[in-house]
Amino acid sequence: MTTAPIDPTSTDAWAALAEHKASLGPDLRGWFAQDPDRAERLTRTVADLHVDLSKNLVTAETLALLVRLAEEVHLADRVDAMFRGDRINVTEGRAVLHTALRRPAGATPPLVVDGQDVDADVQAELEKVFAFADRVRSGEWTGVTGERIRSVVNIGIGGSDLGPVMAYEALQPYVQDGIEVRFVSNIDPTDVAETVADLDPTTTLFIVASKTFGTLETLTNARLARTWLWERLAAAGAIGDDDDARAAAVAKHFVAVSTALDKVAAFGIDPANAFGFWDWVGGRYSLDSAIGTSLAIAIGPDGFRDLLAGFHAVDEHLRTTPLEQNVPVLMGLLNVWYVNFFDAHTHAVLPYAQHLHRFPAYLQQLTMESNGKSVRWDGTPVTTQTGEVFWGEPGTNGQHAFYQLIHQGTRLVPADFIAVANPAHPLRDGDTDVHGLFLANFFAQTKALAFGKTADEVRAEGTAEEIVPARVFAGNRPTTSIMAPALTPSVLGQLIALYEHITFVQGVVWGIDSFDQWGVELGKVLANQIAPAVEGDTDALAQQDPSTRALIEYYLRTRG
Ligand code: F6P
Repeated sequence: MTTAPIDPTSTDAWAALAEHKASLGPDLRGWFAQDPDRAERLTRTVADLHVDLSKNLVTAETLALLVRLAEEVHLADRVDAMFRGDRINVTEGRAVLHTALRRPAGATPPLVVDGQDVDADVQAELEKVFAFADRVRSGEWTGVTGERIRSVVNIGIGGSDLGPVMAYEALQPYVQDGIEVRFVSNIDPTDVAETVADLDPTTTLFIVASKTFGTLETLTNARLARTWLWERLAAAGAIGDDDDARAAAVAKHFVAVSTALDKVAAFGIDPANAFGFWDWVGGRYSLDSAIGTSLAIAIGPDGFRDLLAGFHAVDEHLRTTPLEQNVPVLMGLLNVWYVNFFDAHTHAVLPYAQHLHRFPAYLQQLTMESNGKSVRWDGTPVTTQTGEVFWGEPGTNGQHAFYQLIHQGTRLVPADFIAVANPAHPLRDGDTDVHGLFLANFFAQTKALAFGKTADEVRAEGTAEEIVPARVFAGNRPTTSIMAPALTPSVLGQLIALYEHITFVQGVVWGIDSFDQWGVELGKVLANQIAPAVEGDTDALAQQDPSTRALIEYYLRTRG
């Protein structure tokens, strides 16, 4: 049974928060001065993550009211419903069970949903992926000429790409020597052409990753890759020019990951070389399913299990920790606080770890495909603003690009700063520990954003009076600092699960289904309708609106 969403704006907590906000007057300088224990009081731990919330624009009263809001919208019930396998993805009629993907083998009691032993299914598929990964890593799995695999190309898009590529980049120190993974996602032919250009077809394995196995980009790229493989192998004299030889090449150089194994077979990939998952795993929540096969090959089953353990630790934290101590709950509520009471439109995620350079891009799909909604899970309009725009770049690069706006612009941009204590490369520049210097920037930025610089402080430096206003920093720019010992697979799993659950918490407060993505459908349908016009079909062209028609005509006139 679907419970109706509770309108957050009709709760007592919402009214109290509005009143509280009106009289708040953010004053991080004053709050820290009055309460020397503020940092300690507002720091929480989740697994290996040390999360300092103290530089947020909150008092003890704010947090109490936000927790009350969570209670009034029955957040705990929704969390339980998700873990239990209720069909909380209402518009698609599906359970939401990505948390089941990371339950440890032998977890008790077993998770049974609709009579199906979900744990057994998950472990069986995981073992299949791991056995395959081991065969590739050891060289037992070879290409059609008997050469071991040295290059793996994951072909997928959205959730079938962003998670694997982000994690592969993040976990570079854990990647086995002699195996390289590349990623093709865009249907711009440049992507596949340039990604495979310098590869040796005899040592290349393609993984076609698509939950639906119906995605235009992925299937087009898979066909292009298959043609490349056949042509290059034939040109090298490695295979003959006949259907049997081609099928044999596909059998050794193509595997697939999908929930639609019938479509995999129709593409020509042997179902024995396909890894499955389930409709209760959303694309953007699927890195820890078989969609992570490329990563499992790169970092090995042990590394992948470590990643899953990290996810699970945060799942357990979400499920069992009281709301006031619950990190994803508090961070989700803080995001609601800024979006709905400070009119924040965006949220920056700023990793001070080069290996996390794709993390903001990954989070964009996770957060914005989940919470970019205008209707609630019962089809009624939302009652307040929903999903903010997530964005970011690694520090310190961002400092020299867009931090100006965060420090002195007119918009409030809440920001999460992420850093690890132990770098992958502990280099020294003479006597200087370069990672320490890097982290000095991490610490400095949140300090500057919180406490700013007053006009008197600027004047005291001898600044000419007319320049003083330009050099003042107002402060009270909210940040959360997340630190971990090192970027291990487990810590990466923890970070991802943290943001998955933050996203869920926000969705629950707003009453939206964070697990569907109908907003991507219209463009896909129209692209299929427009494709004939682009090929020169005059009837299809005539049916377009004047602007679209003129653009297509420009293209047709101008292309070579
Ligand atoms: O178009 C959006 C989307 O449906 C995402 O939700 C999904 O991750 C992506 O496309 C790829 O879909 P698939 O894995 O089915 O190819």
